[in-house]
Amino acid sequence: MIRLKHVYKSFGENQVLKDLNLEIKNEEVFVLLGQSGYGKSVILKHLMGLMKPDSGEVLIDDVDMAQLKGRKLYAKLLDIGMIFQMGALFDSMTVGENVAFYLEEHGIRNGKKINKADIPQLVREALEKVGLKGKEDLYPSDLSGGMRKRASIARTLIYQPKYVFYDEPTTGLDPVTAMTIADLILSQHRELRRTTVVVSHDIVSALRIADRIGLIEEGEIKLVAPPEEFMKFDHPTVRIFNKMIGGDIDGIRHAW
Ligand SMILES: Nc1ncnc2c1ncn2[C@@H]1O[C@H](COP(=O)(O)OP(=O)(O)OP(=O)(O)O)[C@@H](O)[C@H]1O
Ligand SMILES: [Mg+2]
Repeated sequence: MIRLKHVYKSFGENQVLKDLNLEIKNEEVFVLLGQSGYGKSVILKHLMGLMKPDSGEVLIDDVDMAQLKGRKLYAKLLDIGMIFQMGALFDSMTVGENVAFYLEEHGIRNGKKINKADIPQLVREALEKVGLKGKEDLYPSDLSGGMRKRASIARTLIYQPKYVFYDEPTTGLDPVTAMTIADLILSQHRELRRTTVVVSHDIVSALRIADRIGLIEEGEIKLVAPPEEFMKFDHPTVRIFNKMIGGDIDGIRHAW
């Protein structure tokens, strides 16, 4: 379970997080919505222990990420998979090498040691799952934006981390591709049941995949609720979201 308690974070005069409190349940898909610059990536960096709060606690399974350093932090990060905002593939490696990277590096999958001879097969399976079957030998520069996202999802999910964090997975994609990426996040969640945190400003994808949606504004979590309830809040941002989607939540929610 993830819990942020009374988290404050400033950069000089810029107070980004102000007494932020948030609880994310095991195995849920939690989508954190907020405008550009409101601190969504900053929160993910705190969850990964890469940024430390000025005060407050950032607990993952009751371990305070704010207190972890060095080898202990490194070990804890094996539980966490992050799909970065820009994809962050290694441009000099093929897609196959990118997807194999964590397994080659750590030899751990789902918390257990693997046989490195199995890696090529695991890479094939991971690429197939994200719709990139047989693309091992291409380079990231050969891929479209949507394919790059898929490759970075495969690269992370191949080691089946306990927590999966996505930073803006659908930003910069056309609406149809965005929807296919949202559906991929959801299908991977259905398969692995990993606690999944998605930060985004994409209300459509949020409604499609979230078990619960949170809204960050003014450095704190203003609203949290399941999608249908969330869209009923009497709040200026929610009113804008409702206008954007024309009230059609059922049409957007994934029909499984
Ligand atoms: N290392 C840093 N040093 C100084 N300021 C920072 C640093 N990291 C983030 N900030 C500031 O914190 C604020 C929140 O940034 P953050 O990247 O979390 O926004 P975001 O919600 O992820 O936006 P976007 O949707 O555009 O990705 C911004 O004002 C940003 O300039
Ligand atoms: Mg960001």
